[in-house]
Amino acid sequence: MSAIDWEPLKFAAHEARSRAYCPYSGYAVGAAVLGDSGIYAGCNVENVSYGACLCAERNGVTRMITAGDHKILALALVTQDGGTPCGTCLQVLAEFAKDSLAMPILICDERGAERPTTLGALFPRPFASAQVGNTPRFSTTENDLRM
Ligand code: THU
Repeated sequence: MSAIDWEPLKFAAHEARSRAYCPYSGYAVGAAVLGDSGIYAGCNVENVSYGACLCAERNGVTRMITAGDHKILALALVTQDGGTPCGTCLQVLAEFAKDSLAMPILICDERGAERPTTLGALFPRPFASAQVGNTPRFSTTENDLRM
């Protein structure tokens, strides 16, 4: 697919998945977000109040933002059966993707099957900030200063 070094991303996603807290669904997810300065892994964290459950992808993204990285170059995801990111996670990934349509995503299942795709293939028409005015996206580091 691209020049992305997938091995460390897959490793980080598998490792994160092993720490998933999912006693209610039993569906463990591990994600690894590649930013400009590193890899940010996340697992799903469920709650007895089901609406408070957190997805693995968004946990990875929040770790990236917390670390000061703002652009996602690629995502590796590991699920039991090769399940794709949910709609909410796709929207959040689109917010920070360096190239939202071309951003590569590698979806792996627990038996080792791998399905390469892109954010654009899974989510061709993300809701865009232009439709609500000038709400900033993290397109430049200058946005940090304005926030
Ligand atoms: N889940 C994720 O972590 N990422 C997704 O994109 C879809 C779903 C989690 C949420 C919940 O803990 C479990 O998978 C079952 O829905």
